[in-house]
Amino acid sequence: MVMEKAWSFGLVLLWFSTLSCYLVNAADDKNGGFGASFIFGDSLVDAGNNNYLPTLSRANIPPNGIDFKASGGNPTGRYTNGRTIGDIVGEELGVPNYAVPYLAPNSTGKAILYGVNYASGGGGIMNATGRIFVNRLGLDIQIDFFNNTRKQFDKLLGSSKAKDYISKRSIFSVTIGANDFLNNYLLPVLSIGARISETPDGFIDDMINHLSNQLTRLYKLDARKFVIGNVGPIGCIPYQKTINQLNENECVDLANKLAMQYNGRLKELLTELNGKLKGAIFVHANVYDLVMELITNYAKYGIIWFFTCRFYNSKRSMLWKWRAICRDNPMRTDIKYVQRP
Ligand SMILES: *[C@@H]1O[C@H](CO)[C@@H](O)[C@H](O)[C@H]1NC(C)=O
Ligand SMILES: *[C@@H]1O[C@H](CO)[C@@H](O)[C@H](O)[C@H]1NC(C)=O
Ligand SMILES: *[C@@H]1O[C@H](CO)[C@@H](O)[C@H](O)[C@H]1NC(C)=O
Repeated sequence: MVMEKAWSFGLVLLWFSTLSCYLVNAADDKNGGFGASFIFGDSLVDAGNNNYLPTLSRANIPPNGIDFKASGGNPTGRYTNGRTIGDIVGEELGVPNYAVPYLAPNSTGKAILYGVNYASGGGGIMNATGRIFVNRLGLDIQIDFFNNTRKQFDKLLGSSKAKDYISKRSIFSVTIGANDFLNNYLLPVLSIGARISETPDGFIDDMINHLSNQLTRLYKLDARKFVIGNVGPIGCIPYQKTINQLNENECVDLANKLAMQYNGRLKELLTELNGKLKGAIFVHANVYDLVMELITNYAKYGIIWFFTCRFYNSKRSMLWKWRAICRDNPMRTDIKYVQRP
């Protein structure tokens, strides 16, 4: 279950730099400012939904949250030391509260006017993705939940105002797809059958068709401004490197190739939807290149190191924050520390 945790530490910073221009423009709407941020996706943007599910994929344990000011450094269910890209985008847009997790008890009443977060660690485009965690919200279900929220907006604002608010003043971000490879297609044992019976082309076709239907469903529910993230270099994450027994500076070729193949198809899909769905804007967020750049030129972005508890022993004085964690878990390898410049 380590992969869900390992993946997301600190990946958000770069993502943001490309998105911010577009999003700030979108926010600068003549119709009375920014409305809501609706967040769909996996552990990269889960803000606590999995805390409310009986699941093996949870992040409500330290060191998650250690740099998250709003919780005083306590874990919240975010799979990261700090904020997710969803939180940061919301802040930059001037939304006073982070989008509430859909499953949290306070995701009711006026709180939803700032946005709602449906993301779930372990979730994917395909329903079967993340089965290994027992429970998680796949994108189909996340959109079912948005359908519920959509009805609540009609009640809160009246149907014509609600439609305006959703279509003109709200952002829909979707950050998903990595688990469809990591915790579905590439999963040892569980998916061997699928991999024998389905070629990478066939599997990626299924993913793209499914996603196309999912985005069209959101459009039917009045979503218009979309930001869709592609899949990062999943062959370079510790989980993949470990199960494939690679060295520190190598990445798993098959996993990265699948990600790149999917990403090519995603770009085509978004171009197609931009033409087909009237009034909608789909922005493609190139997570793959950003994260690859981060991995390659990490020092340029103020990242001091990625480290494990074993490594910690030699850098003790610099990493006082991790002392208790590493003392209790001397062999932990899923911690990466990102320092802003
Ligand atoms: C919802 O509850 C959480 C946890 O108690 C809190 O941190 C957050 O600020 C609340 N959000 C809203 C919009 O009330
Ligand atoms: C996936 O699950 C959702 C929600 O349970 C369901 O509506 C949908 O039909 C399922 N899709 C497939 C392809 O099984
Ligand atoms: C939303 O839910 C209603 C039932 O309440 C259903 O008729 C409709 O098809 C759903 N819309 C989408 C896009 O899923």
